[in-house]
Formats: sequence, C-alpha cells, structure tokens
Amino acid sequence: MMDLDMIPYYGKGYIEEQLGHVRFKIGPKSFFQTNTLQAQRLYDVVVEFAALQGTENVYDLYTGIGSIALYVARYCRQVVGIEEIAAAIEDAKENAVLNNIDNATFYAGDVKAILTTDFAERHGKPDVLITDPPRAGMHPQVVEMLLQLEAPKLIYVSCNPATQARDLNLLSQKYIVQKVRPVDMFPHTHHLESVALLELRN
Ligand SMILES: C[S@@+](CC[C@H](N)C(=O)[O-])C[C@H]1O[C@@H](n2cnc3c(N)ncnc32)[C@H](O)[C@@H]1O
Repeated sequence: MMDLDMIPYYGKGYIEEQLGHVRFKIGPKSFFQTNTLQAQRLYDVVVEFAALQGTENVYDLYTGIGSIALYVARYCRQVVGIEEIAAAIEDAKENAVLNNIDNATFYAGDVKAILTTDFAERHGKPDVLITDPPRAGMHPQVVEMLLQLEAPKLIYVSCNPATQARDLNLLSQKYIVQKVRPVDMFPHTHHLESVALLELRN
C-alpha cells in the first residue's frame, strides 16, 4: 500500500481528529492511535511525566504525524520529530502550520539512520527524549544511540510491554525506571499501552 498513490473516490482523502488543544489532519498512509479519547489520556501521561518547564529541547522518536511532538510543543522550547513514513512527516509539517506551532521540526527516515551524534550536534542534545516505537520495540542500534545521547529524561511509550521490558533492560546500564503507567487504549482486549519514565543515573 505504501508504494501506491492514493486516489480518493469519496470524501476529502484524509480524516481529522481533535486531541485537546491540537487538531490533526491524518492521511491514509499515516499512523494514528485507534482510540482518540484514550490517546489524549496517553499524551497527558507523557506531559505529566515530562514535567516540562518551557526551556527544554525535546526529541520525539517514531513521531507518526507528529502527534506527541505537536501535543507537547507548547510546553517546551523546541521539539524534533523523526518518522520513517514520508507521507506522515508531510502530515506532521502541515499539522504544525494548522495549529500555529513554529517550534517543531520533523525529519523523514529510519530513526536508526537519522538519529546520529551529528544530528544531535545540529539540533542540540535532548533534555527529554520521547520514544514510541512499533510493537517490535527499538533497534539495538537505536538503544545504543540513546545510551550515548544521555538525555536526562527518557519517556518510553509502548504498545508491547514485552519489547518495552527488553529495551528498558538494555537502557538500565545508564537509566533508572522511575515509574510505569498503563493506559487502557484497547478496551475488551488484553492489550494496553505502557508509559515508562526513565531518569539518567548520576
Ligand atoms: C506506535 S506508532 C507511534 C506514532 C506516534 N507517536 C503516535 O502516537 O501517533 C510508531 C510509528 O513509528 C513509525 N516507525 C516504525 N519503524 C520506524 C523506524 N525504523 N524509524 C522511524 N519510524 C518508524 C511507524 O510508521 C509509526 O508511525
């Protein structure tokens, strides 16, 4: 599907959702959380865990249409989002304009390839790093890069606690898990979304 052009036969060719203070335009090739009501609760947990003061440089890995990045943009100095689906990044940029957000920048590509020490030098080291990978979790090279970047605060959003636990174990070299909060994103199923707050060890 990803390599085919989309031809809308009926309607606008995209959908729109409102999550709290942010309005999202979502194209057919872009990921968006399936449960809008709970997605807002999920992002509120991220905001709570991040406890932003307005001065922070935030990275949002696996940003999709910039959902979390745009949601937290008003609470930080700048936010940088990375996502592999180019069409989703086009949506993210459009959504930033739609919401008058001018402190968010977005990059299309595999996190493994884009997130390098060079990238961090250009964009400034992250004070808070949010990561929300697919069910497979993060590639070991991405975990390794996170350990090199040493963001003081890391927030790991996951829809698969098994791979999240695997990655938290790898990150425990340098991070302490302060808290984990489940969000019932998929009612009547055994699936859940899990948000972990990690802090860099002294
Ligand atoms: C669980 S979704 C989260 C999206 C977004 N944070 C949200 O809440 O809507 C994971 C996203 O990661 C993207 N993705 C998967 N593998 C990736 C990779 N290797 N590099 C960058 N993005 C990737 C997917 O396209 C998807 O948009």
